Amino acid sequence: MDRIDLFEAIHTARAMRRLKPDPVPEALLTQVLDAAIRAGSAGNAQNWHFVVVRDPDLRRQLGDIYAKASKIAEAMYAARGRPPHLTEAQFGQLMTSGAHLWAHMGDAPVIVLPCLRRPIVPTPDSLPPAMRGLYQAELAYAERIRGASIYPAVQNLILACRALGLGTTITTNHLRCEDEVRALLKLPDDVDSFAMMPIGWPVDPFGPISRRPLAEVVHADQWERGWPA
Ligand SMILES: Cc1cc2nc3c(=O)[nH]c(=O)nc-3n(C[C@H](O)[C@H](O)[C@H](O)COP(=O)(O)O)c2cc1C
Repeated sequence: MDRIDLFEAIHTARAMRRLKPDPVPEALLTQVLDAAIRAGSAGNAQNWHFVVVRDPDLRRQLGDIYAKASKIAEAMYAARGRPPHLTEAQFGQLMTSGAHLWAHMGDAPVIVLPCLRRPIVPTPDSLPPAMRGLYQAELAYAERIRGASIYPAVQNLILACRALGLGTTITTNHLRCEDEVRALLKLPDDVDSFAMMPIGWPVDPFGPISRRPLAEVVHADQWERGWPA
């Protein structure tokens, strides 16, 4: 397979929700997972685990949980309405494509669940007395940054899939029914899943990816000053 430029991968790795049922060679999955674990994590803790689900019955059950959780998401999206930066056509495309995955998650040949083991937080009395007053704030800080130790790996996984011609997308709807996923996959109590990623050969072409322009979202030095783009 021809190698693609990194920027081309970034600009074309759109959310691929229509996937063929054809199997994905294990060597490619290993390559993708090996790219995922090159990401950084807080304190280089590498508390990540990736559950790669290929068993058809487990995939079907994961698909059922995803579909159930997505009904809640559907109601939330409907109540929230179209974000102003998306055209009617773009919003319609998102809802149609999203609804396809609600019904077909279990048909993807591979479903990867990136997970994190909860970090070990020192007890308050193991800290110097002057630091103990900061303990609750430290717990809040750890919770705030928790996802930042797995989502860079998720993005590596997305880009590695793109480089190999595989389609995927990050999804999180299943977290609304997290306990069912935990029981099905026998996750230990101190391990949480952070995404459910269908992986397979795409039905539709990749990219291009459209986003709000830099001028709307980049600030030069301070908030009031726009970026000259
Ligand atoms: C935190 C997060 C959660 C997401 N959850 C879902 C999800 O549950 N289901 C889904 O179909 N897509 C999900 N997505 C994918 C987004 O819908 C997608 O990234 C966005 O629409 C941009 O798509 P594009 O790259 O094709 O333009 C999620 C994306 C992120 C970053």
